[in-house]
Amino acid sequence: MKRKVALITGITGQDGAYLSEFLLNKGYIVHGIKRRSSSFNTARIDHLFQEASKDSTFILHYGDLSDSLNITRLIRDISPDEIYNLAAMSHVKVSFDTPMYTANIDGIGTLRILEAVRLLKLEHKIKIYQASTSELYGNAQEIPQNENTPFYPRSPYGVAKLYAFWITKNYREAYNIFASNGILFNHESPLRGETFVSRKITLAATKISIGEQKVLKLGNLNAKRDWGHAKDYIESMWMILQHNKPDDWVIATGLNYSVRDFTIKSFQKLGIELEFKGTGVDEVGVVNKTESNNNISEGDILVRIDPNYFRPSEVNNLLGDSTKARKVLKWKPRYSFDSLVDEMIKSDLELAKKNIKSQ
Ligand code: NAP
Ligand code: GDD
Repeated sequence: MKRKVALITGITGQDGAYLSEFLLNKGYIVHGIKRRSSSFNTARIDHLFQEASKDSTFILHYGDLSDSLNITRLIRDISPDEIYNLAAMSHVKVSFDTPMYTANIDGIGTLRILEAVRLLKLEHKIKIYQASTSELYGNAQEIPQNENTPFYPRSPYGVAKLYAFWITKNYREAYNIFASNGILFNHESPLRGETFVSRKITLAATKISIGEQKVLKLGNLNAKRDWGHAKDYIESMWMILQHNKPDDWVIATGLNYSVRDFTIKSFQKLGIELEFKGTGVDEVGVVNKTESNNNISEGDILVRIDPNYFRPSEVNNLLGDSTKARKVLKWKPRYSFDSLVDEMIKSDLELAKKNIKSQ
């Protein structure tokens, strides 16, 4: 049987790495677009490259979503069966500093892919997955959020992704392209970027637990997110493209927790019971009880608020209702909030200990 060919933009990111592994295991030939960078940016996929590149099932190409001709040429040469558009400037806070760049990549970048497919007359061959996001709901108009909930983005990132959502839908309706949006709620993992709050917390908590860091500084502790595991979520991307028609799908666990909850759970996994005291910028996370003997004592302050991490406009409460995907696609997450945090803490603890040994 002919092997299916996938093209993944954003292959060096968290989701790109897990999706590559998943598709290779399914027998796909996987092509990926990576950016040229002055330092190595392939740490998450190096193991795949070493294993799969021997028999040419994993192939990387230089490219950038800002470069229409590069994208068009790659789609022409690779002629994939499926495109997963995961590339993005994906940090919400950074999008306030780089709004035009974010619009260019996260918004117009999606149009570049759709237009390339149309220009090359590959509308009937290629299926496209667009990485849409729960940030579209932003200042959420109802709780929980489903496919019919009105959008109200709260950042340049959310607004750029809103354009990408609608242009994907428009090309589906106007040109009959199999183009689907996965409206994915937050998903984390040991491969999560280090400046997203989940990973920032697990990295800091593990370092603090072995005496390598003193304090964790955070912004808004009250924000609530519906946190899942990236491994469960990339599987939904594939399922979305295997469905018999293109559509829009919410993917979420259906439970949400605050940043404060995530922090308490992370320290708890390390034998440190934290209690939050005070309000506003004076709120602190204090050790209530500890089994750790690395110079951590009851009463120590391990978490403080740093207003630099506040956002000009915040998304307070995201909670997804993925009934449609669960019924129609038969998708359901395997990880719980507890097993997600557990895996991240174990992985970062190992990393922190390894770093000490190499010092
Ligand atoms: P990520 O780890 O930040 O990865 C983003 C990827 O996009 C990286 O490979 C990055 O390359 C690449 N990229 C950035 N700018 C690019 C450009 N101009 N041209 C080509 N590639 C570029 O993000 P993720 O968590 O895997 O998320 C994947 C996608 O899902 C993103 O579109 C994100 O917005 C969306 N999403 C994520 C979540 C979530 O909770 N993770 C939820 C909903 C939607 P470098 O490695 O070189 O930086
Ligand atoms: N990053 C960060 N750093 N966030 C903090 C911090 C901090 O020190 N302190 C509190 N937060 C709060 C943020 O204000 C936000 O409300 C929440 O933690 C989550 O922030 P992030 O982890 O940066 O993720 P996000 O929800 O803004 O965006 C992520 O999820 C989206 C899906 O809803 C990204 O992966 C987006 O690309 C994705 O679309």
